[in-house]
Amino acid sequence: MTSEPRLEISLCGITLKNPVLAASGTFAYGVEFESMVDLNELGGLVVKGLSREAMEGNPPPRIWEAEAGMINSIGLQNIGVRAFVREKLPALARLKTAVFANVFGYASEDYVEVIRILESAEGLVGYELNVSCPNTRHGGIYFSSDPVLLGEVVAGVRAVARRPLIVKLSPNVARIEPLARAAAEAGADAISLVNTFVALAVDARARKPRIGAGFGGLSGPAIKPIALRMVYEAAQAVRVPVIGMGGIASGEDAAEFLVAGASAVEVGTATFWDPASPLRVARELGEFLLQEKIAGARDLIRTLRLGKQEKTNEEDCCD
Ligand SMILES: Cc1cc2nc3c(=O)[nH]c(=O)nc-3n(C[C@H](O)[C@H](O)[C@H](O)COP(=O)(O)O)c2cc1C
Repeated sequence: MTSEPRLEISLCGITLKNPVLAASGTFAYGVEFESMVDLNELGGLVVKGLSREAMEGNPPPRIWEAEAGMINSIGLQNIGVRAFVREKLPALARLKTAVFANVFGYASEDYVEVIRILESAEGLVGYELNVSCPNTRHGGIYFSSDPVLLGEVVAGVRAVARRPLIVKLSPNVARIEPLARAAAEAGADAISLVNTFVALAVDARARKPRIGAGFGGLSGPAIKPIALRMVYEAAQAVRVPVIGMGGIASGEDAAEFLVAGASAVEVGTATFWDPASPLRVARELGEFLLQEKIAGARDLIRTLRLGKQEKTNEEDCCD
């Protein structure tokens, strides 16, 4: 094959230049990276989580470098949806890349209200709902761990959202399939996963957690194998496209997620050491396709061959 491999993909009716997006929370509101990264070359970007009102976030320290990963507890600090629309969106709207707003809340109404405000603004191609938050109306049960609560919040948002809706699942559950199905049945156009894994870093000398808030979320290369397993399981459970993430730092990592069942990927923690990593990952994915003589990125999607001897989560695989 001599021609350049085709990186362009279509996701929920949106054409992306390549299947690599900058993940939420590690790329600020996108515009802050303008001097370091050609934002127009990105497959897309997902802005930092937005809530109804501005949030200050958690007490420091908020980040701890773990073995092959990072633990964070930023506490979803953000400027609030109205300030985002006023101060950040106009510059984002001028970009020639797909911009998704990541949205969170503590009750269904919070999500619906944020989406309502975003619906009346220009410059976004879709939404990603971060459902890894406790529902304060239901005793703090996480939306992301209860298929009924998850279905309710997704259906509520679906009723007001005209743009494509991605539901981002938490990996902090025993089985991902019921959650993926609940989101898809309630109207999600796509599923993304994984968010971070709840983790604890301990300072044994001080007898204290390393993170101000106590627990934090583990991300980065350490989580990649678990993320790949969950992306595979989610892709088997639903018909809607799955967006994979968790520790992606190279084009070959991205290829692994596509093979496991993802239609696109997001790059998060890698931007901490290489701000342009989403662009590099896309370039390297192109090189991978060329080496493997594969015509396009979409030809890799869901191509994992699970042999008979490979066990799935359904069976006893704890040996
Ligand atoms: C510092 C930090 C902040 C994050 N903030 C958000 C957020 O606001 N909303 C969200 O849905 N995910 C958030 N995430 C999760 C990432 O988007 C991503 O799902 C996760 O880190 C796994 O991907 P990675 O290993 O490539 O970082 C955050 C992650 C980190 C490290």
